[in-house]
Amino acid sequence: MRILLVGASGTLGTAVRGALSRRHEVVAASRNGGDVTVDITDPQSITAMYQTVGTVDAVACAAGTVTLKPFAELDREDLEAGIRHKLLGQVELVRQGVSHVSATGSFTLITSVLSHDPVPGSTAAALVSGALKAFVVAAAIELPHRQRINAVSPSVFTTSLPRTAALFPGAKGVLPEQVAQAYVKSVEGAQTGQVYRVEEQF
Ligand SMILES: NC(=O)c1ccc[n+]([C@@H]2O[C@H](COP(=O)([O-])OP(=O)(O)OC[C@H]3O[C@@H](n4cnc5c(N)ncnc54)[C@H](OP(=O)(O)O)[C@@H]3O)[C@@H](O)[C@H]2O)c1
Repeated sequence: MRILLVGASGTLGTAVRGALSRRHEVVAASRNGGDVTVDITDPQSITAMYQTVGTVDAVACAAGTVTLKPFAELDREDLEAGIRHKLLGQVELVRQGVSHVSATGSFTLITSVLSHDPVPGSTAAALVSGALKAFVVAAAIELPHRQRINAVSPSVFTTSLPRTAALFPGAKGVLPEQVAQAYVKSVEGAQTGQVYRVEEQF
């Protein structure tokens, strides 16, 4: 398969690229570097990326920023930033992507546990995560042809714990490589409308 991976240079993206590139051609995208540049907050940038890349068999996203901040300190801009970036950025990847993904191709988006397992300071992130899960379930019944869509919902990565441990008491974290296996399942499997939880055991 030919797979467009957005956020390929990040912590998660590097692990996903490693897992998918064993059997597939991965086209790496991000704002800086990679095979093609894109800013998912800018719809015109997404249009240009798809024009450059052409048809792919799958689009996978490992990008998306949200604000972690106490609810009492959240301002409108904090909320809009996560919605614009991680939520609408990924929705736009799908909205424009339907005409660039093969008839039996797939989309795999990134969400998180925070919509069902929140911690103090996660309200803005939980809002975005919950909306993405609802989007995936609803879009799955409307995508054209036999295109599929799933989301990957990980808990905090082991690599993030050194700086975020205080936010996630008791968390062991999941390896980015474990999370990457959920992308493999989404891309190579047959399911649609699924949210794959990758969570640590206590
Ligand atoms: N870290 C965690 O513990 C954790 C846990 C659960 C879920 N998640 C989610 O997993 C995803 C990846 O996290 P991460 O820790 O791997 O992030 P990261 O290391 O910061 O990597 C982010 C990647 O996305 C790209 N990117 C950032 N903004 C972009 C934009 N506007 N347009 C296109 N590409 C963009 C970055 O490259 P450029 O800077 O070159 O654009 C980079 O390749 C995020 O959605 C995050 O919320 C993370």
